[in-house]
Amino acid sequence: MVEKSKQTFYVTTPIYYVNDVPHIGHAYTTIIADALARYHRLKGFEVFFLTGTDEHGQKIEKTAAEKGLTPKELADRVVGRFKELWKQLNISCDYFIRTTEQFHEAGVQKIFQKLLEKGDIYKGTYQGWYCVSEENFLSEDVPLEPEGYKICPDCGRKAILIEEESYFFRLSAYQQPLLEFYQQNPQFVRPQTRMNEVVSFVKQGLKDLSITRTTVKWGIPVPGDPKHTIYVWFDALHNYLTGIGYDWNPELFQRFWPADVHLIGKDILRFHAIFWPAFLMAAGFPLPRTVYGHGWWLKDETKMSKSKGNVLDPYLILKKVGADPLRYFLLREIPIGQDGNFSHEGFVQRLNSDLANDLGNLVQRTLTMVFNYFQGTLNEIGEEKEEDRKFASQFEETRKRVVEFYDDYALNRALEEIWTYLNVINKYLADNEPWKLAKAPESRPRLARVLYQAVCAIKATSYLLYPVMPETAGKIWELLGLKQAPQEMPLTDLKFYDFRTEKPIPKPEALFPRIDLNEFIGEMEKQNAPDKLEPKAEVKKMEYITYDEFKKMDLRVAKVLTAERVAGTNKLLKLQIDLGTEQRQIIAGVAESYAPEELVGKEFIVIANLQPAVIRGIESQGMLLAAEAEGKPIIPFFDRELPPGTKVK
Ligand code: MSP
Repeated sequence: MVEKSKQTFYVTTPIYYVNDVPHIGHAYTTIIADALARYHRLKGFEVFFLTGTDEHGQKIEKTAAEKGLTPKELADRVVGRFKELWKQLNISCDYFIRTTEQFHEAGVQKIFQKLLEKGDIYKGTYQGWYCVSEENFLSEDVPLEPEGYKICPDCGRKAILIEEESYFFRLSAYQQPLLEFYQQNPQFVRPQTRMNEVVSFVKQGLKDLSITRTTVKWGIPVPGDPKHTIYVWFDALHNYLTGIGYDWNPELFQRFWPADVHLIGKDILRFHAIFWPAFLMAAGFPLPRTVYGHGWWLKDETKMSKSKGNVLDPYLILKKVGADPLRYFLLREIPIGQDGNFSHEGFVQRLNSDLANDLGNLVQRTLTMVFNYFQGTLNEIGEEKEEDRKFASQFEETRKRVVEFYDDYALNRALEEIWTYLNVINKYLADNEPWKLAKAPESRPRLARVLYQAVCAIKATSYLLYPVMPETAGKIWELLGLKQAPQEMPLTDLKFYDFRTEKPIPKPEALFPRIDLNEFIGEMEKQNAPDKLEPKAEVKKMEYITYDEFKKMDLRVAKVLTAERVAGTNKLLKLQIDLGTEQRQIIAGVAESYAPEELVGKEFIVIANLQPAVIRGIESQGMLLAAEAEGKPIIPFFDRELPPGTKVK
C-alpha cells in the first residue's frame, strides 16, 4: 500500500438515495463525519470531507415514475433537501457529489473499461431474484416461498425473477486477496464484530457479481454497449474516487486517496467491505484504511426507514432545538457501532440535564459572576493554590483522553470525558463558593482567582467540544469576549491557563433553554406530516415558455379501453387508450385514487407526443394529465363525451 502523507484526512459518508428526503439516520452518519472532519482540522490536518447523493438506478427510476417526474427532476428536487439539511446542521463538507455529474459518469466508465480490458469484467447471462426496493439481487440462500417467489430479507417485499445478459465482475478471483488483506489490516473494518462478519462471509466463497442491467434505463451506459447500464452500486461506490479528483484532478486525487475512513451504516457493510476493496484491487488502487459500520437509529425498536414509515424529520427537531443539541444527542447517546433507540423522552431529558443544566448553567453562572463582581474584567488574580493546580492538571488528563477518543473515532467516549470534567468544574465552584467570597472585600483576589480558574476551564473545555458542537463552542468563546474563534486555534496550542480579558465579559444570555417534554412531544406529533417529498426547496422564479413551445405539445382526448394494475406496485395502472387514430398503452401513477374498473370508458387528456418511456419494464406511450392534491393524483374529466383524439388547445 502506498503510504500517503500523514497530514491529510479524507472522510466520506455514503451517498444518499434521492428517492426520499433525508431523515435522522442520514443525518447521523453525516454528523459523525462532520465531527471527525472538524477534529482533524483542529489537529492541523488537511481535510477532505465528501458527501453527496446517489441518483441512478431502478429505485430512483421507479419513484420518479410514480411521482410523474423524470429521474433527474426527482433528484434535483430531493438534492435541495439534503443540501439544505446539511446547511442547517452545520455540515462542513468540502464537496457534495451527485452521481449524475458528468465527471463522475466519465470516471466510472473509464474504470469499467479498464477492468473490461483487464478481464476482471466479462459478459455473461444472469438469472436471479432481484429486490427493486433494495436495488439488490437476493443471495441464493434466501428460500423460495411455497407460492414460488422469494421475499427480500431486508425489506420484506416480494422479489422478482430476472434473467438478462449482463457484465460480471470477477469477484471470485478476489476471495483470497481479500482474506489476506483483512488479516494484514485488522482495522480495515470496524468495529471488530463487523470485521468478523465480513471475514466469515468471504470465507464461504464469493461468486462473480453481475454489475450491469438492461432492464434499468436510468444509469451510466456501459462504454461501447449502451443497452446495458452500470449497476447502481458499482457506479455509486466510485464516487469516493471521482469526488476527490480521479480522472479530473490528479494532484488532488494523489493527495487524498486512499480514504482514511468510509463511514457507513451496517446495512451497507458488504458493499463497502467486500465489493469495494475488490473493485479497487482490480483497478490497482490502494485501499481505504477503515470502513466504519455504525449502528442504526431505531424508532419504537425498529430501524428508522422510509419504507417502515417511522422516520423522524430532522427539520422539525432542528426548528425546535437547533443544530448543536441534535448533533450532541446523536453522538453522545450511542457508541458508533451500536443501535440506539430514539425516544422523545430520552432526547428531552438528555438535553435538559447535560446541556441546559451541566453546561448551560455552568457557563451562565460563572460569567454572571464575572460580570457582577468584576464588571466583566478579571485582573488582580490571587495566587494559585494547590487545589487550583489540581483542577488544572485534571484538565490536562481530560484533554489527553478526549484526544485519544477522538483519534479512535469514539465520539461518545470523548463527550463523556468532557462531561466528567464539566462536573469537576461545577464541583470546584461549589467547593470554593465564590458567592461567599464576594461578600468579603479582602477575599477579592481569591474570588478573582476562582473565577479565573473556572473561566480557563470553560474556555479549554468548550474548545474540546468544538468538533461536535461548533456553534456552541464559538458562542462560549464569544461570551468570554475572545476575539479568536475556536477553529482558529490549533489543538497543539490548547492549554489550561490561557485566558486574558480581551473584551469585558457582558451579562451572558442562556445557552440552552429548558425544553418542556409535553410541549415537545405535542409539536413533534402535530407536524409529523406523512409525505415530505415536496421540496421546501428554493423559491423559484416563474419560468415562462413561449406559445410556440406550448404548441409543440400534442394534447389529445383519450378514452380508456382497458385498465389493470401493474403487479408489485400500488401506484401504477396499465391503461389501453383510444386516441382516435390509434390505440396506445400508457402507465399512469393514479392507482391510489382510482380503481382500474372505474376508469374504463372515461376520457381525459394525454400528451400524445411525449417520448415513450419504460416504467417497471413496461412501455408507456404518453402521459395523462392529473392534478396532485395532498399527494394523490386527481384526473380532470370532461363534462360531456368527446370523440377520442380530439385536440386540446
Ligand atoms: N445509496 C446507498 C449508499 C451508496 S454509498 C456508495 C444507500 N443510500 S441510503 O440513502 O439508503 O442511505 C444509507 C445510509 O444512511 C446508511 O448506510 C446509514 O449511513 C444511513 N442510515 C439510513 N437509515 C439509518 C438509520 N435508521 N440509522 C442510522 N443510519 C441509517 O444505501
